Amino acid sequence: MKSVIFIAPPAAGKGTQSSNLVDLGYTHISTGDMLREEIAKESEIGLVVKDIIFKGMLVSDEIVFELINNKLSNLDKPFILDGFPRTIKQAELLDNLLNKLDINNYEVIYLDINSEDAMKRALGRLTCNKCGASFNKYYEALQPIQEGICDNCGNTLVTRTDDNEESFKVRFNTFIENTEPIIEFYKSKNKLHNVDATMDSFDITNKIKDILK
Ligand code: AP5
Ligand code: MG
Repeated sequence: MKSVIFIAPPAAGKGTQSSNLVDLGYTHISTGDMLREEIAKESEIGLVVKDIIFKGMLVSDEIVFELINNKLSNLDKPFILDGFPRTIKQAELLDNLLNKLDINNYEVIYLDINSEDAMKRALGRLTCNKCGASFNKYYEALQPIQEGICDNCGNTLVTRTDDNEESFKVRFNTFIENTEPIIEFYKSKNKLHNVDATMDSFDITNKIKDILK
C-alpha cells in the first residue's frame, strides 16, 4: 500500500482525509497534532511553540523534523503525513530520510482550496481534544448530534486557539509563501496529484483512493 503526503492550505481537510483513510492500515502522522500534544503536556517544546502556533506562524524546521524523524524511523506500516513538509528545507530533509529508509512507495496529494472556503471551514471547526474528532458548525453534515459534544466520546468540543480570522490569514499567507513552492519540488519527482478539496469529504476520499491504486 502506498504512503501519502498531504500538501494543503490550512483547513483544506488534511485531518479529515487522514481519518477517512487511516482504517486502511495507515499510521497517521500530523505535526500539528504532535505539537498541540506538546503544548498540552507543557513540555519544553510545547512552551517554545505555543505562541508561534497561536499566531499562525511556522515552528522551526529543526523542531518538526526531529518529531518526524523519530516517528518515521520506527515505523513498520505505510504512513500518512499530514502537515509535513511545509518548507523546501523540510521537503529536502524528508527526501534524504526517505532515501535512507529506502522508501519510495508514496504519493503526494495537493488538496486545492481557495482562501475564502478554507477560512469558513477553519472558523466553523469544532475539535475534540480527547479523541481528535473534528466537526463543523457551518456544514449540516458535519455538525455534532448534540451541540458542543463529541459524537464519538462525549467530550466537550473546543475551538482551536489558531482558528480565528487573524491567525487564519497568517496561516494561509504562510502556506502561499513557504509551502506552495514544494508543489514544484514534488511535480519534478512525478509524485504530485492535484485534488479539488471543495468537494464532499467522501468524494475527495474516493478520488485519493483511486490515485493510490
Ligand atoms: P496544523 O494542525 O497542521 O494546521 P493547518 O495546516 O492549519 O491545518 P488544519 O489542521 O487547520 O486543517 P486540516 O487541513 O487538517 O483540515 P480539517 O480536516 O481539520 O498545524 C497547526 C500549526 O502547527 C501550524 O500553523 C504551525 O504553526 C505548526 N506546524 C505544524 N506542522 C508544521 C511544520 N511542518 N512546520 C512548521 N510548523 C508546523 O478540516 C477543517 C474543517 O473543515 C473541519 O471542521 C472539517 O470538519 C471541515 N471539513 C473538512 N473537509 C470538508 C469538506 N470536504 N467539506 C466541508 N467541510 C470540511
Ligand atoms: Mg489538521
